[in-house]
Amino acid sequence: MYYIGIDVGTSATKLLLVDEDGKILRQVTREYPLYMPLPGWSEQDPMDWWSACLIGTEELMRGFDRSQVAGIGCGGQMHGLVVLDSDDNIIRNCILWNDGRTADEVDYLNETIGREKISGLTANIAFAGFTAPKLLWMKKNEPENFARISKIMLPKDYINYKLTGVHSCDYSDASGMLLLDVKNKKWSKEMLDICSVTEEQMPKLFESYEVIGTLRPEIATALNLPQSVKVVAGAGDNAASAVGTGTVGPGNCNISIGTSGTVFVSSDKFHYAEGNALHSFAHADGGYHLMGCMLSAASCNKWFCDEILHETDYDAVQREIDTSALGENPVFFLPYLMGERSPINDTDARGVFLGMSMNTTRAEMVQAVLEGVAFAIKDNLEAAKIAGEKIERSKICGGGTRSKIWRTIFSAVLNIPLDIPVTEEGPSYGGAMLAMVGTGLFPDVRTCASALTRVKETILPDPALAEKYAERYKEYKTLYPSLRDVFRRMRRQ
Ligand code: XUL
Repeated sequence: MYYIGIDVGTSATKLLLVDEDGKILRQVTREYPLYMPLPGWSEQDPMDWWSACLIGTEELMRGFDRSQVAGIGCGGQMHGLVVLDSDDNIIRNCILWNDGRTADEVDYLNETIGREKISGLTANIAFAGFTAPKLLWMKKNEPENFARISKIMLPKDYINYKLTGVHSCDYSDASGMLLLDVKNKKWSKEMLDICSVTEEQMPKLFESYEVIGTLRPEIATALNLPQSVKVVAGAGDNAASAVGTGTVGPGNCNISIGTSGTVFVSSDKFHYAEGNALHSFAHADGGYHLMGCMLSAASCNKWFCDEILHETDYDAVQREIDTSALGENPVFFLPYLMGERSPINDTDARGVFLGMSMNTTRAEMVQAVLEGVAFAIKDNLEAAKIAGEKIERSKICGGGTRSKIWRTIFSAVLNIPLDIPVTEEGPSYGGAMLAMVGTGLFPDVRTCASALTRVKETILPDPALAEKYAERYKEYKTLYPSLRDVFRRMRRQ
């Protein structure tokens, strides 16, 4: 039998066709636009995701026996607010996870309602990209749209709805809405009240590997797939990615360097980080996890190469870096191009280059971008350690980690061995694995992960380089605190 894994990402939707042995038979990527109508705003049209899924599935299945498809599982960008009216039409573009327009609503939730209360209800505090503050923003700024809301969904849930006709959400993704009582895995009535929405407007909750339904007849016909294909609830992209890299069960860590950068620590038990420095969410394996999320990771390198250097060959640009000067770069970069989530929670923060002279080369600036992202990931790893997690090694995946020099920098900055999984397509592979569990090929996610996930290479930190980076990190850590007030003043101007 075959399984389809879909990752509804920010830059593209990625689809994988996987066989029963977990072998990837084909992969397809369909890109779409990201709209930034105002600085700090970030939106997408859900119909673009759906078209990408339809056209992508057609391309994925060409030449394969479609009657053999048993299941579909999606991972997807988290926190995005998708709102449907009573005819299930999209009311407005989705407000994405990296949108920063809700600073006032975040202040209202964290300061007026209070962090302790919000954290008691949901196990998390408000961050600009989370779904709840976006509902408050919509209520205030687009009351006519808010009044039309019949269903609230997350990005991959919209795809699941189009496939099956079922309004569903899994616990891992629902955790990032700030509307779920994460510990007890149910919608928080009080949080729904605070946001002026009702339980009827919320999707039905499932474990990630549970089947939500089968294909709608018209979709089965359009895709030329059997109507019996089972669709599982799927997961937020980070939980799906963790499944795809085998980061399940207690105490395992996955670092993902995609558009965003995340540090994901899986756990058997519910717990949360002191001061909510990290998110405390449900995991797609039925357990829980702590996660730190930086809003711009591989996207910093993309921005610098595309927009500033006008270079498309990122590898060639990185080959200009003098590898003997790693750990000695006089230039620093703060990667806060979209503000920042973890651990500083500051929508006003912005990207910064610091330390340039007349001798500074573009290679040093490229290197500073790669190093700045690695330092910010280290900030999250340190927060996880403070939360009591012992992280002695980690998996690493995502587009950014295909760069050899960036891997070297990551392992030296983090000073831990980094395992590169055989399958680097984290969220879409995780989606296919969840479909395998949902359709009964494996009894549970952990068994599936131990059968299908392998490490192909381990990057060991170079001790001398790690020492140099430890010194540079001490400097790096002083930069944001000394700029925090400047960022705040810049917002007001
Ligand atoms: C996680 C987060 C991002 C998105 C990226 O909290 O906001 O990692 O899920 O797609």
